[in-house]
Formats: sequence, structure tokens, C-alpha cells
Amino acid sequence: MFIDTHCHLDFPDFDSDRNEVIQRAKQQGIGYIINVGSSLRASQASVDLAGQYDFIYASAGIHPHDADKVNKETLNTIAGLCKSPRVVAVGEIGLDYYRGLSSVDNQKQLFINLLRLAESESLPVIIHCRQAQQDVLKILKDNNVSRGVVHCFSGDEAFLKQCLDLGFYISFTCNLTYKKADNLRRLARITPLERLLLETDAPFLAPEGFRGKRNEPVYVKYLAKKIAEIKEIKLEEIEKITTVNAQALFRLNRD
Ligand code: NI
Repeated sequence: MFIDTHCHLDFPDFDSDRNEVIQRAKQQGIGYIINVGSSLRASQASVDLAGQYDFIYASAGIHPHDADKVNKETLNTIAGLCKSPRVVAVGEIGLDYYRGLSSVDNQKQLFINLLRLAESESLPVIIHCRQAQQDVLKILKDNNVSRGVVHCFSGDEAFLKQCLDLGFYISFTCNLTYKKADNLRRLARITPLERLLLETDAPFLAPEGFRGKRNEPVYVKYLAKKIAEIKEIKLEEIEKITTVNAQALFRLNRD
């Protein structure tokens, strides 16, 4: 089985056929799905979805884009969601200076607050980082955070090495299959297998051949196939090790 460690099936893109998408994933070998909360509403929806399907887990978090809108009540609600046995991580959280939809100060404060929540709940974190590598690393180090994944990895080799040194897993998405994504493929090649996770980030970033269309969890196999090619090992090996990695980080199927 494969595990899609990061997608957003609560998004309106799936309103017309959500159950079909989920059943298709299950029937075609996606053993588990982690539906990632990117806002208060999405975190609640993720927990609801995880309550409906035993192979779907949830994370709860607030995207840095929303940092300007967060208040104490928002944080309390996220903290409450983290008590759910279906929540396996705090995320996605981090810093995004590329789109800069919230102030840097508010992004940092929110990030730190949610890292502390993860620590108090003994949950791993799912990190979103765009053009904020140095600040993300500094905050992770200052707060002694070592259990988590840097999702939709982008950046340079130095950043990759520093994330690995901190103990983080690295997750690539289907954009690694794009014709021009040589840099991502090079980074995947040097990421140790025992730190590698797979994700779709659906509905975003559908693989080559489906570009511009909606992504969905079953397409994680296209990513796995490409990584197997890059690493010159069998697809079954990628399948096995990324599944072990995801189960270890998120403690899936622990009950
Ligand atoms: Ni995402």
C-alpha cells in the first residue's frame, strides 16, 4: 500500500464526488490518507472526514496565510481538535514569504504558538515553508522541534541538509514529475530513503500528464514511480519504505 501523507479532500474541488475519490484511492492501493487542516474550518472538516473513514486521519493547524486573522479563540479551537484520537499531527504550519498574505511578525508568532501546541500534545508537525528557509530553521531550532515533515519540499541543498540534520522527514509532491523539475529530482535523489514521504497535496499539483487538472490521492503512485526511477530501485521498495516512514512519524493505526 501507499500512503498519501498530505491532501485536502475537504476542499470544494471534491464536493461533487468526494466519496468516489476516496473509494477509488482505497480500491487502488492507497492504504491511508492524511487530510491536512489549513485553516480553522479545514481542520474541523478534516477531523469530520477522518471520523467517517477509518483509513483517513487528520491534522489540525492554521496556514501562515491566515496568521493576521488568528485570535486566542482560534488557537483554543485548534488545541481542542488536537485532542481527537483521529488527529495525528499539527499542520500545516510555517512561514510563507512568497505570497506574504499575513505580516511576518504574525506568521512567526502563530508558527511558534502551534509548535508549542504540538509539543504539549506530543504530535509531529507538518511544515509549510516558502521563501522563508532561514527563519523556519531558526524557529524550529529555538523551539527544539525535531519530529515532523517539511511538506511539498522546495528549496536548495543546504536547506535540505539542515532539515535532515534536525531530524525531519522530507515530503515531495507530484510536481517532481514535471519536465522542468530537475532540481526537485536532484534533491529527491540525495534524500535518504528512510526520511522520505509521499504526498499529493491534492487538489493541487496534479502529476505530469494531468497538469491543470485536479489532483487526487491515487495519483501518489505517479510520484512513487518517478522517485523509484530517480533512485534506481524497485517501486515496491519505495512503497514499503515510505509506508514504514509515514507510519512511524504519524503513528498510524496505533489503536
Ligand atoms: Ni497542503
